[in-house]
Parts: sequence; C-alpha cells; structure tokens
Amino acid sequence: MNFQLKTFEEYKAAYRRSVEDPEGFWGEVAEHFHWYRPWKSVLEWEFDTPDVKWFNGGKTNITYNCLDRHLDTRGDQVAILWEPNNPQGEAIRLTYRQLYHEVCRTANALKSLGVGKGDRICFYMPMVPELTIGLLACARIGAVHSVVFAGFSAQSLADRINDSACKLVICSDYNARGAKNIPVKQVVDDALAMGCPSIEKVMVLRHTGEKVNWDNNLDVWWHDVVSGQPAACPPAEMDAEDLLFILYTSGSTGKPKGVVHTVGGYMVFAAYTFLNVFQYQEGDVFWCNADVGWITGHSYIVYGPLLSGATSLMFEGVPTYPDAGRFWEVCEKHRVNIFYTAPTAIRALMAMGDEWAEGHDLSSLRVLGSVGEPINAEAWHWYHEKIGRKNCPIVDTWWQTETGGILISPLAGLTPLKPNYASLPLPGVQPCLIDANGQEIEGDGVEGMLCMKFPWPGILRSTYGDHERCRQTYFETFPGKYFTGDGARRDEDGYYRIIGRADDVIKVSGHRIGTAEVENAINEHDLVVESAVVAFPHNIKGQGIYAYIITDKPVTDFPKFEREVLATVARIIGPIAKPDVIQVVPGLPKTRSGKIMRRILRKVAEGDTSNLGDTSTLLNPEVVAEIIAGARR
Ligand code: WT7
Repeated sequence: MNFQLKTFEEYKAAYRRSVEDPEGFWGEVAEHFHWYRPWKSVLEWEFDTPDVKWFNGGKTNITYNCLDRHLDTRGDQVAILWEPNNPQGEAIRLTYRQLYHEVCRTANALKSLGVGKGDRICFYMPMVPELTIGLLACARIGAVHSVVFAGFSAQSLADRINDSACKLVICSDYNARGAKNIPVKQVVDDALAMGCPSIEKVMVLRHTGEKVNWDNNLDVWWHDVVSGQPAACPPAEMDAEDLLFILYTSGSTGKPKGVVHTVGGYMVFAAYTFLNVFQYQEGDVFWCNADVGWITGHSYIVYGPLLSGATSLMFEGVPTYPDAGRFWEVCEKHRVNIFYTAPTAIRALMAMGDEWAEGHDLSSLRVLGSVGEPINAEAWHWYHEKIGRKNCPIVDTWWQTETGGILISPLAGLTPLKPNYASLPLPGVQPCLIDANGQEIEGDGVEGMLCMKFPWPGILRSTYGDHERCRQTYFETFPGKYFTGDGARRDEDGYYRIIGRADDVIKVSGHRIGTAEVENAINEHDLVVESAVVAFPHNIKGQGIYAYIITDKPVTDFPKFEREVLATVARIIGPIAKPDVIQVVPGLPKTRSGKIMRRILRKVAEGDTSNLGDTSTLLNPEVVAEIIAGARR
C-alpha cells in the first residue's frame, strides 16, 4: 500500500491536506483496500449524539484485506511468527497461506456451532496463534469478537460476557505464563457458574494438555470442531459500519464499558497508522509485545500488521522468564526490526541491570516504540542507548482503546524527536487543548485538557448497549469535541506532551483501572464501610494504587486484613487491580456536599503534605491530620 509517507515534508503536506480536505484524504487512503462495493460517502458525522460514519454504504471484509489479498503476492511469507513462553519450545511460523486456511477452517467451525453475523464471541485466551486465528475467523463471518484479558477474574469475565450477551466463549485449558500454568478453563467454568445465560458453547483449545473439568453438553474441543472443516470460507460482505469488535475498558465511573469499533474505518486507520508510525518495510519482523487482550494487540499484533502484509511476532511469555534477558534474546533470535513495548516493561528491565541487554546482538533493531503511559526521561534514554544503541528512533505513541489506533506520535525516522513528547498528530487527527471553562487554548507553551475537534476513521462508534453512556463519557464535557480524559501540554513546535489522566482513571503498569471499580471491590470485604482509591507515582509501574479504608470494627490483625482485601480485589477484578498500599483511616475528607476530596488523599499518597491547599470547606477537617499520621509510605 503506497500511502506510506517518506519524509517529514511529506508528513506536513499530508497533514495539511487531511485538515483541508479530510474526505478527499481518507477516500484516497481507503482506495488501497479491497471493497465489494464502494462507499456512498466518506464521512458523515456529528459529535452531539454522537453519530459518526466512515465509508458509509461501502462493503468490505477485513479478513479479505488481511489474507486473501496477499495470497498471490506473499502467500509463502510468514504472517504470524510465534515465540512460546518456554524458550526451549519451538517457534511456530504461519505463512499467509497457512493462516488463511486456518482462519477459514475455524470460521467454518464457528458456523457449525451456530455462530452467524452479528453474534458476539468472547475470547479468554493466552497469546497463541489460535487467538489471532479465532479473531479473524469471527471477522470472516461477521461475528463480533470481544477479547477479555486472561488476567481478569471470573466475575469480570462474567460481567463482560453478559453485558454483550456473548453466544460462545473460547478459551484454552491452561495458559503458560512464566513459570506458572494458569487454569483458565476453570475461570471460565467459574464465570459460567455465576450465570451467563447467553452462552451456548465453550470452545476449548488444548494448549498445555492439563486435565480440565468437562461438561459434555457445553464444552467442545477446538480441534474436534475445527479439524475436518473445509479450508475455504467465503468472506461475509460487511457494511463499513457493521461491528468488528467490542473491547471493554475502564473509566472513572461504573463498570467497564464495551468500546465499539466498526469494520471500515478501523481497518483503514489500523493499517494507515501501522505503516506510517513504524515505517514498516517489506521483509521486516515487527514485534509488538502487548497482550491481544488490550487494544494495542488488536491493532498492532493482529490487524495493522496483517493488513499491511507484515510479519507479526506474537510472544506468549513475560519479559522476565526465564530471566530478564528474554526480550533481547527473542529480538536476537528472530532478527526483530521493529520493537514496540510499554514504559513499565522498560523500567522493570532497566532496574534489573544493563547486562541483560548487553549480551545480545540487537543490531537488527531499527525502530523502537512505546505505548500505554508517559515514558519518563530516564527510561527513554535507557531504551535509546542500551536497546537502540543510539541508532533507533523511539516512537512514543499516544492513543486509547477508544481511538482504535495511534493519534499522536512521531513517524519513525521522519519526525524530529524530543524525549517525553508524543510529538505531533497523525494526518487526519485534529487535537486541541481546552481550559476549565471549556474554551480552546490557542498558542504554544500551554496546557489543558486534550480533546479532538474532528473524527478520524478509528474513533469509537458507541459503548455497547448504552449509547448514552458514550455521549456522556466522551462528548458531553466539552460539547462538539471528543474528550480524551488526558491532560496535555503543547510546546513552541506544536509538539504534545501527555501529562496523564485528568479523571479518576489510574494507569498501573500501563493497565487502565478505574478507581470506582477498585473501591467497589474493596467494599465487598465484610469489615469495610467505605473506601477511596487514588494513584501515586511508582518507580516501575508508573502509578501505584493507594487505598484508604474505613472499617466498622477496629482492625486487630492488619496483615491478615490486608491479605483479605487484596484477595477480594483479585477475586472481583483480577490481580492487576490489587492496591499497592492500604491504609485504615477513621474517616475520609469530605466536602459539605459529601464528595471525597481526593486531592488531599493524592497528596498524602504521594508523601507530600507540605501544601494541602484549602481544607476549610471540609465537613471533617480533623481527619486530615489523622490520615497524615497514619500514612503508610
Ligand atoms: C490511556 C489509554 C493506547 C493503547 C494502550 C493504552 C495513556 C497511552 C500513552 C503515551 C502517555 C499514554 C493515556 C490514555 N497513554 N499511551 N504514549 N503517553 N500516556 O490504551 O488502556 O485505552 O489507555 O493510556 O492516559 O488516555 P488504554
């Protein structure tokens, strides 16, 4: 696809064009894809309801564009290069032709289980080729996938299955992660035992081979339903605005919401951003080591690379197994050219010492990427020097589950870099900064809430089953604009630096966690009356979780109480949401209207109580001193 920009000048020209004539711009990009029927209009939109349609009236199938289209030109090229958890295990290479046949067989298997267009299918899987195959199999027949990260609890899984009434859940027997095998089929069984009335079948991949409980009425083995299926399956002709997938993500209030992405716009945007940000070149090995349970894996392990005919490396394991050299060993072994990871992984590996990277030949690396949270200067420089050997541009890519693909980022090798800056918007992306009164802040050297003035093809279309929630969450705060939830700064070169979330969302090791969700989980513990959760800066995780808890009886055995609270959070949400610090408090600072003054709690959690600001409006100012006295850091 020849929409790859080659110079910074070309970027600037493309950017101008995309603002002056967005429809002309994106229409031309979209023409590089295969459509059964052309669109009637490139873009129809308003941000009030909101209602956004890209390529409306067009018909396509994303898997035709990921697979069929490549068969003549690159059928024998590796599409998925899989590196197992166990370094002694064998890597799997699936060519585009093999992947095509596997996807077709699996799509036919799904049909045989009664899955059809529009049905929702939940995935609770390890990072194995079958996960990619399964997603594409859904898209082949027009079913909607909803991947749930396999670190979430049975309760979280059940909530997500029920919110979108999934018909089928696909899992493995066990997941191999580091030194442990995790019984995920058991988690699915537990979720279903909580009540998931829409589920008709559970499709189980035999992966580690360990024994699992089996229900003959419900459970089917992946290999039983897939083997023997025909290796061809006609792609469903999908409307550009038909659903492609749902992905749940946390916000500042309530339960996680199902972010909805549709076929046409997402397809165009995933490929456009992949080719331009990473500057993928023919023959490169691209490695994004996010989990497919997050949007990063959807867009830059599965769809972006495959749409572009790339070789996408998929890694089952963790960065520190069997030791802290694993990433670099894999880079060396597979001659990785482009490497994309999260700051939390960089910081964790940096903390373990330079020697883990030094022993490896990293000369194949050409581009490094970062995503998920701000990358601090120290980590940026370490990544640049120790991993990139000062030869690789770092693309600090800012985006969100809701944006479908990267919105603000350098284009590797084109955009001049500044550490700490996600830099410039991609063509088609129109950011602005808004002040507390909702006014746009012009000029440079300014800071404000980061919003988008204009739709891009990958923008979320809705939140599943509750469109009003989509409006309230993203389009109500600043009418006529999409609000990202982040604060940002713009400098004299127009570069953006992301400051972090401006709402009650915490980024723990790059994972997005809502404070309300954690509080609700903590409150399930018998002794807990009320709780308040805030973020604090954490050396490795970026942010840690600090929980203030009021109990109805004095806690006599604190270590036991702490263990129980952590176990409660792990049971209700998952281990990733476990607080790092727990403090039992006599009360929470509240305003007269009953609102918790989180500002004070954040200050205490940060260990900076020198300037707490005005506390005179508090209903109970006396608790502040007690909270400070009992602070646990
Ligand atoms: C939030 C979105 C985008 C895929 C992974 C996370 C933060 C993301 C950056 C970055 C600073 C970043 C923001 C954003 N974030 N990338 N390069 N610099 N912050 O997706 O879970 O939807 O989280 O992650 O706060 O709003 P997500």
